[in-house]
Amino acid sequence: MTNNIYFVANWKMYGAKSSLNALNKLINFSKNKKFKRAKIIYFPPYTLIKDFINKFKKTKIAVGGQNCHHVENYGSFTGSISPKMIKDLGCKYVIIGHSENRASGDTDSIINKKIHSAIGKKLNVVFCIGETLKQKRKKLTSSILKIQINNGLKRVKNFQNILIAYEPVWSIGTGIIPNNKELETNAKKIKNLILKKTKIKLPILYGGSVNEKNISYLRNISGINGFLIGSASQNTKKFIDIIKKTII
Ligand code: PGA
Repeated sequence: MTNNIYFVANWKMYGAKSSLNALNKLINFSKNKKFKRAKIIYFPPYTLIKDFINKFKKTKIAVGGQNCHHVENYGSFTGSISPKMIKDLGCKYVIIGHSENRASGDTDSIINKKIHSAIGKKLNVVFCIGETLKQKRKKLTSSILKIQINNGLKRVKNFQNILIAYEPVWSIGTGIIPNNKELETNAKKIKNLILKKTKIKLPILYGGSVNEKNISYLRNISGINGFLIGSASQNTKKFIDIIKKTII
């Protein structure tokens, strides 16, 4: 998986049917052979998943769910959506452990259950980890990454379909990005923690305020196999710009 460069678009709670036309540009762009290494994955809100799947039908662009319930199939959980349902829609991916979901109650143990359920349904998992500003200031980043990885991936045996997204919480939506040394060091720490669990090289993505301006800086940081992009991905022109600047 690591020869690819991942461009993950997380639309969060944004987007309407009217947003679909703007994707035409990206579809044309994605057919260009020059960008073969770019693995593009969209995470629209649940309400638009089916539309995105239809839109990308004849392309290599994949679609995923932004979260899922920890129960694999069905259950009495009002407002929730299971890995089975996400799979049934035609999704190949699911994001688990995003800091916005951790902030609203997802513990490491719930995240672990979600990962097992998603793997059970053969979904690829974008597993998000990252320290808060408070933890960073207390120099707890290494131990937080270790705890999140070890607890989140507890008893996981099949690592084939897991991608790690390192997203420092203080960087998400703030316009602030880590400096290259810091990011390189943390990517290396993550790589080593994963190596203790599996020989498979998992892609490590960076997320947090990635945009068309800072990508020229971020793309040169070693140990990073792609990007998880929030707000800049909702603007197709900016998203294409990010891909172009990374690959060329
Ligand atoms: P951002 O979001 O790019 O808007 O900072 C990233 C994310 O939350 O995944």
